[in-house]
Amino acid sequence: MGKYVLITGGTKGIGKAVASCLGKSGYNLILTYASDTATAEKACCELQYPGIQVLTLQADVSERTSIEVIHRYLTEHDIHLDALVLNAGMTCREPFETLLPEDWERVFFANVHFPVFLLQKVVGLMNKGGSIVFTGSLMGIQPHSVSLAYGVTKSAVHALVKNLVKFLVPYELRVNAVAPGFVDTEWQKTKPAEIRRNIENKVALGRFCDPDELAEVYKMLIVNSYLNGEVVVVDGGYSYK
Ligand SMILES: NC(=O)c1ccc[n+]([C@@H]2O[C@H](COP(=O)([O-])OP(=O)(O)OC[C@H]3O[C@@H](n4cnc5c(N)ncnc54)[C@H](OP(=O)(O)O)[C@@H]3O)[C@@H](O)[C@H]2O)c1
Repeated sequence: MGKYVLITGGTKGIGKAVASCLGKSGYNLILTYASDTATAEKACCELQYPGIQVLTLQADVSERTSIEVIHRYLTEHDIHLDALVLNAGMTCREPFETLLPEDWERVFFANVHFPVFLLQKVVGLMNKGGSIVFTGSLMGIQPHSVSLAYGVTKSAVHALVKNLVKFLVPYELRVNAVAPGFVDTEWQKTKPAEIRRNIENKVALGRFCDPDELAEVYKMLIVNSYLNGEVVVVDGGYSYK
């Protein structure tokens, strides 16, 4: 039986690129998504690399019950994970003045609480020597001027990675994060051309990151056996101007 990776938000964008990279390396893939079943099925067909299994599972990270859904799926299929990529995230662009506590809590639940309690639930189903990778964000390092909740939750993700290191020692698991800058996924493609140009002007490489070049960094964090507690920033050389 080969190695298994579970990737939350694995059917599009960054998660799908990581799935492709790991699938090509022989990992069996379990990809969760929120609601777009048609795209999940399409991703499942596209990611059929020789000798691997590709499984998809609907599990919305804004719902507490999804933790049990994922745990039950793994136990029913007798799957033990070698890697866990906690990638799915949410934002809220409501202005500060009208932001509701419910909006704030929803982003915190999806970006921070869900991965913590999913990890607590499945840590016993991870093989020793395994690896956990969180998706953080450059916006957890540089102040975010649009979504207060997003920037603060991604900072919390970076702090989580540092703090989890010791808690995962008994399980012989490593934990790291990738903090991407601006990656050309649906998340960014919907932005108006003027805002995209403004972003490109702040990146030394003058362009958005391709999800596939970012995926290589996730793979490195999973396969390198000495990387632990790192937050790897991948922003193409971002500087505010
Ligand atoms: N793109 C960037 O520039 C950028 C930069 C820094 C960090 N990030 C972070 O990278 C992660 C992925 O972003 P992306 O750009 O790859 O997004 P994306 O292209 O929009 O892909 C989103 C994926 O996550 C799933 N997803 C969305 N909301 C979910 C939810 N509530 N529960 C479960 N799955 C959910 C989607 O499933 P459905 O198709 O069913 O909705 C899809 O599989 C996020 O944590 C984001 O904060 C992105």
